[in-house]
Amino acid sequence: MTQNETRRALIVGAGNGIGAASARRLAAAGLTLALADRDLGAVTRLAQEIGGTAFAVDIADAGAVHDLFEAVESQLGHVDVLVNTAAISPMAPDGGQLGIAATDLDLLQQVIAVNTLGTLYLGREYAQRTDASGQGGRVVLLASAAAQLGGHKSASVYIASKGAVLSFTKGLARELAPHGVTVNCVAPGLIDTPMLRGALRPDQDAVAARAVPLNRIGQADEVAAAVAYLVSPDAAYVTGTTLDVNGGYYMG
Ligand SMILES: NC(=O)c1ccc[n+]([C@@H]2O[C@H](COP(=O)([O-])OP(=O)(O)OC[C@H]3O[C@@H](n4cnc5c(N)ncnc54)[C@H](O)[C@@H]3O)[C@@H](O)[C@H]2O)c1
Repeated sequence: MTQNETRRALIVGAGNGIGAASARRLAAAGLTLALADRDLGAVTRLAQEIGGTAFAVDIADAGAVHDLFEAVESQLGHVDVLVNTAAISPMAPDGGQLGIAATDLDLLQQVIAVNTLGTLYLGREYAQRTDASGQGGRVVLLASAAAQLGGHKSASVYIASKGAVLSFTKGLARELAPHGVTVNCVAPGLIDTPMLRGALRPDQDAVAARAVPLNRIGQADEVAAAVAYLVSPDAAYVTGTTLDVNGGYYMG
């Protein structure tokens, strides 16, 4: 596993931001990549650039998640590594915080469907395909500092959806440990991606960064580095944990 890497990694949400940066890291580490996103064009372009195979999926759809695993397995083989970065973060129409009282019921259910249920569907499909030969298997999920500190600008439904990811990480880690599979999550703080830019204009960065001890917004590749570590053979004895990549925004 350390040399001539042959593991296959399914990266969901690879079309943009932290997912795309993670794909670049894992490509450089020599893993065979399945790049999935609801935006097929984005993962197709990325696959042309870094290698790998592109797949379309909406993780809010349990049947589509099942079909994704079937397609990846038939085209590439068993999924050894699962990384899920796909999520949505709703904001108020004026770009401000979306309070729970003002959260439309359809939107509330959509956020839970993508961020929470989508994560559970992926974990379930991975677990159903894991057997005693799971050595070297890895699951990396994306939570958020917002779930740890209550969030400053995130919607409460987003905070709740990510709190479930923190907990599910521990449950799945215990379930899959007997198979030699590790399960961890990464909790980013403020990271410069399209998701953050839906809530923060670049001219607001300096003010937002005052709440961050390292006094800056982080980069997607800095989170991808944590993902790559958790996927690597070096992290074989790390499971059930949350790796904070937040510049000190939240100190657990
Ligand atoms: N950027 C930040 O500041 C920040 C902070 C904390 C946590 N996070 C978390 O990190 C992860 C990555 O965030 P990002 O900033 O890169 O987001 P992003 O919006 O830049 O990229 C998310 C990707 O997920 C895809 N996606 C969204 N819904 C999907 C669905 N239903 N099915 C399949 N694909 C879907 C999008 O098409 C997009 O390519 C997310 O889980 C997010 O909640 C981000």
